[in-house]
Amino acid sequence: MSQQNISSFKTTEEAIEEVFRTRHATREYKPNVPITAETLNKILELAATAPSAWNLQHWRFLVIRDQEQKDRLKPIAYGQQQVSDASALVVILGDLEANLTGREMYDGLLEAEFIPQEVHDNLISQIEESYKIPEFARDEANKNAGLAAMQLMLAAKAKGYDSGAIGGFNPVALVEALNIPSRFIPVMLVTIGEAATPARPTTRLPLSKLVINESF
Ligand SMILES: Cc1cc2nc3c(=O)[nH]c(=O)nc-3n(C[C@H](O)[C@H](O)[C@H](O)COP(=O)(O)O)c2cc1C
Repeated sequence: MSQQNISSFKTTEEAIEEVFRTRHATREYKPNVPITAETLNKILELAATAPSAWNLQHWRFLVIRDQEQKDRLKPIAYGQQQVSDASALVVILGDLEANLTGREMYDGLLEAEFIPQEVHDNLISQIEESYKIPEFARDEANKNAGLAAMQLMLAAKAKGYDSGAIGGFNPVALVEALNIPSRFIPVMLVTIGEAATPARPTTRLPLSKLVINESF
């Protein structure tokens, strides 16, 4: 792949910085470039190291590599060609019922005596109370799954692949096409593959516009 030796002759810090600086939104991929399930799983494992509120890990990765399936989803993404040409398309799902993961996880920790009963009960009650509010659940699903999506794109770059986030899709049609259960919402699509052309150059706002020190 294009960036296979990204860390050659570089300090770890330089290599990491390069991953950040060379990731760009890819919209033109070389078609028919396969990506193995093994490589993709390594990338997804790295993505899943993202932090999340209460460690509820609100993300799920619906992975699509089949050409017919990608072609079927292209119109749902308003005809964006990269959906068909990318080696893989990952639908980032956010969990609206992440409280269920909390219960499972903290019950396990209690059983293994990693946390005392009181800590367990406090956490479960905080989580369950919060998840009674649908807007809270939706915001958390979007926010936390977004962090995993970002890590996914950086992990792909570190492994020599290009990527792109896609928010331009019809969520209702996507849910129907992929039989996504009501527990999950599609947060964004991430394409992964080998860029056919360099991504469009982009700029960033200067720190002077971005940073507010101490208080407004
Ligand atoms: C949530 C989100 C949704 C996006 N949706 C699209 C999209 O539908 N189509 C597209 O071509 N690019 C999409 N992008 C890519 C952005 O346009 C791109 O990241 C931005 O212009 C900055 O470019 P860069 O990432 O190459 O620096 C999306 C990015 C994000 C984070």
